[in-house]
Amino acid sequence: MATVVDAEYLKQIEKARRLLRSLISTRQCAPILLRLAWHEAGTYDATTKTGGPNGSIRNEAELNHSNNKGLKFAVDLCEEVKASYPKISYADLYQLAGIVAVEITGGPSINFVPGRKDSTEFPEEGRLPDAVKGARASHLREVFQRMGLSDKDIVALSGGHTLGRAHRERSGFNGPWTRDTLKFDNSYFVELLKGDTPGLLKLPSDKILVEDPGFRPYVELYAKDEDTFFKDYAVSHKKLSELGFTPD
Ligand code: HEM
Repeated sequence: MATVVDAEYLKQIEKARRLLRSLISTRQCAPILLRLAWHEAGTYDATTKTGGPNGSIRNEAELNHSNNKGLKFAVDLCEEVKASYPKISYADLYQLAGIVAVEITGGPSINFVPGRKDSTEFPEEGRLPDAVKGARASHLREVFQRMGLSDKDIVALSGGHTLGRAHRERSGFNGPWTRDTLKFDNSYFVELLKGDTPGLLKLPSDKILVEDPGFRPYVELYAKDEDTFFKDYAVSHKKLSELGFTPD
């Protein structure tokens, strides 16, 4: 469906931003909104130009993919925003929600360009990275390179685990990566370098970032220099949010 970005559209985007800020602070849902934005965008295949941020994750068939457990809550929350600002495409709304989630928890500002189109097609299951297979760097590289993203993007974006936690009933994993799950900072990398810590989680796909010689230098850099992490994260997140999207 076409998305025409006119003055009224831009006005609705600004109002939706405000509503998202308020919903995020009252319902403490920044982590799940960030995960929604990532799972919607992270299905992109640069070769076939399918998947990506196109609003498709709201379809039951995609929402029921096992990786998407728990995301219905976030989709429903965005539906509240959509009801007030119906001009905005779902594709734009989900990416806006992810960006506001990062900003409002203290993370970097991420440039948002509107105009994504909604698609009725959705990708097959299995395009997102798997936390267990992620013990192999080659799995992470395969998945992210399919999207068109680099080693640096993989490490910077994994810093999204500074927010939120795993839930046993969703993924089989349990617990948070950092001490403050609602604060976006570089503590994910600091904790990663410390190794196993009681009460904190490290997925196989997190641990590999320290073990692989291509990933590790970025982990070390981001652990000691939060400004560089924020700068790189904002670039990588913008790329993720615009996979397959070229503004008219
Ligand atoms: C949660 C895997 C990358 C953001 C999770 C969970 C798993 C996972 C297993 C726990 C889900 C649950 O039990 O609720 C992975 C793997 C990745 C990856 C294998 C590959 C590198 C990312 C990226 C972002 C992200 C790139 C964002 C930029 C999040 C957030 C949560 C989360 C915010 C917490 C959600 C909540 O609190 O409900 N991830 N993830 N992840 N992930 Fe990732």
